Amino acid sequence: MENDQKPYHIPVLLDEVVQYMHQKPKGTYVDVTFGGGGHTKALLQAQPDCKVIALDWDSVALEKNGQSLQEIYPDRLTLVWGNFAQVDRHLKKIGIDAVDGILADFGTSQYQISERAGFSFSKDSPLDMRMSPSHQKTTAAEVINKATEQTLCDIFTFLGQEKKARAIARAIVHERTRVSIISTKQLADLVENVVGGRGAKRIHPATQVFQALRMYVNKETENIHAFLVNATRTLKPGGRLLCISFHSLEDRAVKQFFKEREQLGDLIITPKVVIPTDQEIARNPASRSAKLRVLERQAT
Ligand SMILES: C[S@@+](CC[C@H](N)C(=O)[O-])C[C@H]1O[C@@H](n2cnc3c(N)ncnc32)[C@H](O)[C@@H]1O
Repeated sequence: MENDQKPYHIPVLLDEVVQYMHQKPKGTYVDVTFGGGGHTKALLQAQPDCKVIALDWDSVALEKNGQSLQEIYPDRLTLVWGNFAQVDRHLKKIGIDAVDGILADFGTSQYQISERAGFSFSKDSPLDMRMSPSHQKTTAAEVINKATEQTLCDIFTFLGQEKKARAIARAIVHERTRVSIISTKQLADLVENVVGGRGAKRIHPATQVFQALRMYVNKETENIHAFLVNATRTLKPGGRLLCISFHSLEDRAVKQFFKEREQLGDLIITPKVVIPTDQEIARNPASRSAKLRVLERQAT
């Protein structure tokens, strides 16, 4: 959706999202992770009478990609700035109590990873990692320089599944008595020193630590849990909740929540998780870990 050489974000599972949303004429749909607007645009195009409310807490995403789409769909697209954890409240504020479908594509956009401070170790930048500085006060640098060794170890273990979490946490606490760790390069080099070089591995040795820190700084798991509850209560009977996850913790939370809702009478539309085709992965390797699950609300 950008005119620069690099797209803002390549949407994943686009055809599958349209297929599983099963849109009705004149229906109202919510895309709570607008990002580059790829899914929002596809939903608007798939059902010419529908309305889409597009939400993101990153104001840059809405400014860069939202305005141009709104010019094309002035009466059908509403942009909302906010945290999806409170999706129900954001909708109420614009007079909407119930909707026909909600899509969440969790995680970060490719633009955020490549352009915003702190997300990538491939470029030296301040260790920030906040997707929305207005919603997150604490930066990754503050966590790295102030959290206890135990907290750092827990973050790397539980959010990053990093096997050398203890040694990395210890090295950070040792290093920061000497100098503050304020840049992505400082942290990536430190992790590489502890974990060892990349060797035959395809991914950078600091990948899991960076991912864990990003999830912690942005309270990603807490927000997803609140979102699942609040989104489901906002669906009309027959309305669908589509969740795309990239991380096993996110997918586990969605799967578990859907099972609980099934006990209450809701319908799991995807007993087998939906993943990208080989063709999509070849076209967009970043899609390789995407998983889509769909729930249909039955209970009133
Ligand atoms: C993977 S991208 C979405 C890409 C989008 N589906 C597209 O087609 O371009 C995730 C987006 O979710 C947003 N986001 C992450 N956590 C959020 C939250 N708690 N509330 C609102 N937006 C959030 C990010 O700012 C980012 O723009």
